Amino acid sequence: MADLPSPDRAAILAVLDRVSDPKSGLGLASAGLVQALTLGPGRAGFMLEVEPADADLYAPVRDAAEAALRAAPGIERASVVLTASAEPRPAPGTVRVRRGARLSSEAQAQMQPAGRPPGAQKPAHVAHVLAVASGKGGVGKSTVAVNLAVALAMTGRCVGLLDADVYGPSAPRMTGAGDEPTMNADKKLIPLEAWGLKIMSIGLLVDEAAPMIWRGPMASSALNQMLNDVAWGDEAEPLDVLVVDMPPGTGDIQLTLAQRVALSGAVVVSTPQEVALIDVRRGVSMFEKTHVPILGIVENMAYFPNPAGGEPIAIFGRGGARATAEALGAPFLGEIPIDIALRQACDDGRPLVAQAPDSEAGRAFLAMAETVGEALDRGAGLKPPPRIVIED
Ligand SMILES: Nc1ncnc2c1ncn2[C@@H]1O[C@H](COP(=O)(O)OP(=O)(O)OP(=O)(O)O)[C@@H](O)[C@H]1O
Ligand SMILES: [Mg+2]
Repeated sequence: MADLPSPDRAAILAVLDRVSDPKSGLGLASAGLVQALTLGPGRAGFMLEVEPADADLYAPVRDAAEAALRAAPGIERASVVLTASAEPRPAPGTVRVRRGARLSSEAQAQMQPAGRPPGAQKPAHVAHVLAVASGKGGVGKSTVAVNLAVALAMTGRCVGLLDADVYGPSAPRMTGAGDEPTMNADKKLIPLEAWGLKIMSIGLLVDEAAPMIWRGPMASSALNQMLNDVAWGDEAEPLDVLVVDMPPGTGDIQLTLAQRVALSGAVVVSTPQEVALIDVRRGVSMFEKTHVPILGIVENMAYFPNPAGGEPIAIFGRGGARATAEALGAPFLGEIPIDIALRQACDDGRPLVAQAPDSEAGRAFLAMAETVGEALDRGAGLKPPPRIVIED
């Protein structure tokens, strides 16, 4: 496929214009429904963004558009992602409240453990959703997410990796998983499998190298789709943990996840220096406000092992994340050294913890998986919040 030329944009838009928009009667391109069109050698994909109420109406349109692309000359792979800011589905468990009445203390107590908005839920057949986050970019979230996920899988758990960084996906590169996901009979995307993980990333659906210009709601709805329209597990083989690699910052995507998904907890990654730690506090505070337990803080790039064999070199200082964890009353999950092999492993799509579990970084990831796995197994206070029904 690498030999195929990239298709011509105008020709592809013309193909898509032959698929009709059921609301306006125009072709999809003329109706302005072809968003974020990405073209690569032998492939084409775009986002079909619609109103939430129209999601069912446009599902066959998505299929028709995909079929039309696939039939176009020079196209071997086509993906059309239907995005709609779906309302959260109601959570199990219901609290009935008479209109005008105050919440009973029993109902209030029932709401306390999770304290998240009603509707926060987990994807089907997933026991725990774990966010790997930081307030700051480039501190090693994806590196930690991938290696922690593999380390959790090495402890015998069934683990998924969701790359929620729709603006800069890195899971395909860091795991080497590059095929286009297919759909099962229930029209759910089948995640790719590599390193014992089930993997899904927007980078598998659209061209990883293409710049992605998303409006906030579009990005949030793509994330919802990757959570709920992917066959993460089934009754026979549920997922124990879904590790979510978050984009940097505390914007729409992070809020969507923290508010709408019943997260079991968050692991916050930082480098040691103060500028990174300020953002860690911001990240921790966002999770606290949305009542997501902080399972711990990791200090990445904590030190550089001295090649001459002496004291490690503290390139960015050392111990800042540990001190911040203590100050915030959060568990400290360990130090990951600056390791050229770790960076190389990320670039080569071979997670270091699987390749060199005995290296300093490998051991740190395995220890982290042990602590995080135990915290998830204890699962304190993680039952889903009840749904509140107002009765007359
Ligand atoms: N401990 C480490 N030693 C050496 N290189 C590292 C280490 N941690 C991360 N890196 C490298 O630093 C770069 C940034 O890491 P990564 O992509 O994991 O950060 P991120 O926080 O996910 O970034 P973004 O905010 O852009 O999503 C990558 O090239 C990665 O390989
Ligand atoms: Mg990242």
